[in-house]
Amino acid sequence: MKDIKDLSPEEAAAELEYLAAEIAKADTAYYQNDDPYLSDADYDRLKHRNFDIEARFPYLTRADSPSKRVGAEVKSGFSKVTHRFPMLSLADVFSIGEVEDFIMGVKRFLNTSEEIAFMSEPKIDGLSFSARYEKGMFVQGATRGDGTTGEDITENLKTIGNLPLRISGAPEILEVRGEVYMSKADFFALNARYEQEGKKIFANPRNAAAGSLRQLDPSITAERKLSLFAYTWGEVSERVWDSQQDFFDHLRGWGFPTNPHNALCRNIREIEENFARLTEIRADLPYDIDGVVYKVNSIALQERLGFLTRTPRWAVAHKFPAEKALTRINNIRIQVGRTGALTPVADLEPITVGGVVVSHATLHNEDEVKRKDVRIGDTVIVQRAGDVIPQIVQVVAEKRPAESTPFEFPHFCPQCGAHAIREEDEAVRRCTGGLSCPAQAIERMIHFVSRDAFDIVGLGDKIIEDFYHEGIVKTPADIFTLEERNRGGDDLFAAGQGLHLERREGWGKKSVDNLFAAIRNKRKISLPRFIYALGIRQVGTATSLLIARHYGSFAQFMRDMQAKETGKLVAIDGIGSSMATDMVEFFHEPHNVDIVNRLLAQIEVEDFVDTTNYNTPLAGKTIVFTGTLQHLTRSEAKAKAQNAGAKVAGSVSKNTDYVVQGADAGSKAAKAAELGIKVVDEETFLQLLA
Ligand code: IVH
Repeated sequence: MKDIKDLSPEEAAAELEYLAAEIAKADTAYYQNDDPYLSDADYDRLKHRNFDIEARFPYLTRADSPSKRVGAEVKSGFSKVTHRFPMLSLADVFSIGEVEDFIMGVKRFLNTSEEIAFMSEPKIDGLSFSARYEKGMFVQGATRGDGTTGEDITENLKTIGNLPLRISGAPEILEVRGEVYMSKADFFALNARYEQEGKKIFANPRNAAAGSLRQLDPSITAERKLSLFAYTWGEVSERVWDSQQDFFDHLRGWGFPTNPHNALCRNIREIEENFARLTEIRADLPYDIDGVVYKVNSIALQERLGFLTRTPRWAVAHKFPAEKALTRINNIRIQVGRTGALTPVADLEPITVGGVVVSHATLHNEDEVKRKDVRIGDTVIVQRAGDVIPQIVQVVAEKRPAESTPFEFPHFCPQCGAHAIREEDEAVRRCTGGLSCPAQAIERMIHFVSRDAFDIVGLGDKIIEDFYHEGIVKTPADIFTLEERNRGGDDLFAAGQGLHLERREGWGKKSVDNLFAAIRNKRKISLPRFIYALGIRQVGTATSLLIARHYGSFAQFMRDMQAKETGKLVAIDGIGSSMATDMVEFFHEPHNVDIVNRLLAQIEVEDFVDTTNYNTPLAGKTIVFTGTLQHLTRSEAKAKAQNAGAKVAGSVSKNTDYVVQGADAGSKAAKAAELGIKVVDEETFLQLLA
């Protein structure tokens, strides 16, 4: 193989073309056919070669390059995609009787008494996508959205290994539609990791798939393992199939994954048999399904049948009943979260519901317990409606023990004994113990080291809990003195008084060294991460970034908060007054200030480096958006304006420089005219950005 530095551009282009094809072939073998023919090492060699050639000749990077499956740029909002053919939904039925009615209706409409063949397809519980191919190249991916307009998820879809990026022998224009899902195994693994890291877990694989696919940063989508099945089409330049079954054959030929349990049924008996079989294997399938879809097989008949408003007359979804089971409540526990929220949890006598053993159910909050009158000792109906965390549907009144008494929601924190109070307009009761409450202190520390905050690997939930209870780490600042205390200094060491973490069970010199290295690495931290790590109520990653961009330095931010100076804060688009109040309160709680100061003695918070390009016609200008834009979502337009150095305001005043007007603009445009402010359309705005 030629050294990359000796390649001519022509040779490089030829090799990139060869590599794209080879890697696509290997992907198909691996993802579609479960029959990989390349070793991982050989596969990686191809990928690296592709990467290295692109690094030397970036302008030769192909649209279908394997490198494009990950690492595309991060966007600030999704742009919209208008579906040329709407993405429809299906009518639901819940019994075989209703399926019979549906089939009767179809026959009546077609005025025939002959048997009609239906394609029976598992109804995948994920989220639907549309993938557009032009001349065999994948050019655009979209979510369903409201059926008419979805979001552009092109870059995200590219990261899904079993979506072909290039197909051959297909019509010039072809939109393939189907379902993106996360397998049960990958879902459990993801949640287990999130739990470890103290993050909010996903309720079910569908939510996890949706949350993973709709990521502005496609590299996050790439990390999550998603898959897809194709099952229908949108726009096509030439329909070369004449039945649903024929369409599936074509899909497979082009390299799309189709569900192996799709089956042609010639009559109602076969439909029934098929439904029974799927019901039986449902729990063992590696992904969730929530029913079975029946589609008239012949496209000619489908076309005759046509559509109702939002659903085709030629298809129906036969839904599985929600899975329920009876069990007993052994205890009602109160969990205390990072912000002190008390959450009631029912400990259940373990039971299998829909193939999954459940032993807890959330009771949400105080009112919910009262509304359902759930008591310890009650027999209850629990239900998993696709959700992993089961719900308590209702109490079985006849089975209530005679001595039972209503559950009394505590007014004191079960962890620290402090008062637990409920603000007037809030559903949750909160512990007022703040950081003197061990539960809150521990949860806050778990948050502090989590991925989007300090991201210290090696400090899992269990370790933080143990360290806290043993007095080794009481506040985040203690994390940064661990190494020194472990050594114990010469005197302490001689006296055997260091922490000696390496002597703990399950630890060793290597893991301790790794942990210290991970901690040392974080002695310098970016401003948005630091703000987020503090765990201020309502302040997530997006808000932290806004604050960082606005204040530039932590000192500035803290000074304003301590002076109760919230004017600048609430002027930031996206920050409201209730958030501002939470921030001010945070910096007026002496515990918090103490923690922050002790942290600042240990670490360095980097000032926020503004990457805004001030060299544009919009730099320093104030812009107001009004009406619906065609090419950009509002948040995307805002972010673009901000990146070009502009300020975005919510209302028109004499300080406004430009009003960008979309369709159906309202009073802002009129106000602008009144004040003599320049009104531009979206095209002009895009030009000003460039
Ligand atoms: S066909 C006009 N087939 O179910 C055809 N949908 O309730 C519309 N779904 O939005 C869809 N598996 O997200 C179809 N084999 C399958 C499906 C399926 C899952 C989902 C899809 C759709 C929803 C309709």
